[in-house]
Amino acid sequence: MAGKINVGTFRKMKERGEPIVMLTAYDSLTAAMAAAAGIEIILVGDSMANTVLGYENTIPLTLEQSLHHCAAVRRGAPNAFIVGDMPFMSYEADITTGLNNAARYLKEAGCNAIKIEGGLATVPLIEKMIECGIPVMGHIGLMPHRVMVSGGYKLAGKTESETLELIETARRLESAGIFSLVLEGIPALSSQRIAESVKIPTIGIGAGVHCDGQVQVITDLLGMSDGFLPRHAKQYVKLHEIIGKAFRQYVDEVKNKTFPGDENSF
Ligand code: KIV
Repeated sequence: MAGKINVGTFRKMKERGEPIVMLTAYDSLTAAMAAAAGIEIILVGDSMANTVLGYENTIPLTLEQSLHHCAAVRRGAPNAFIVGDMPFMSYEADITTGLNNAARYLKEAGCNAIKIEGGLATVPLIEKMIECGIPVMGHIGLMPHRVMVSGGYKLAGKTESETLELIETARRLESAGIFSLVLEGIPALSSQRIAESVKIPTIGIGAGVHCDGQVQVITDLLGMSDGFLPRHAKQYVKLHEIIGKAFRQYVDEVKNKTFPGDENSF
């Protein structure tokens, strides 16, 4: 399907009941592998702040860092549908700044769309983006940009009133023009109700199986670290073990002078 995917594809997939697969990627090599494996949306998530740049959370990520990685992902996956995840405070302060920064994802980094976290306050910006021709993916529920005010990563939609609020927000974002909506950290039954309340596809992370698609963070899925693994994540392989073993073997071979061998020498 790669190359033929556009924003309309995902609504049709929801109508057909066909789950959408989204994965984060931050570099050209993994982007190429993700595209070749049939990942339908590559999200250049601002999770790159913690997963590859070594920050404690997503707050310090800059627009330039994000665009740099988006462009690398595009080079690795020329035909993929790529969403650039706008960093903290790159769109919140005022509409003009948000619009100009969003446009850079399309013009400079070759993204197909951008993603922004936020509730009703983002509606005017989304409307303006759509009017200008910038496809937008929304993101509600647990919002990592809010970590400093919420004091941690807390589930959303745990009560009836919170769930109703999320449903209303999802509907308003849909009316504003988003083509899809990430639901993060929401109990499965609440997510199901949100997904059933809108025609646009919902893509869940820690939001149960009833979302119209799923997203995972690539470093979790590949087991790049032996540290904390969030409950919403599944490790499909333990690359930290495989890579660690390769590195140790390389160290041994250099130390005992079995590398380089004749076949690696000129
Ligand atoms: O930055 C990211 O990886 C995300 C996903 C968790 C949806 O926003």
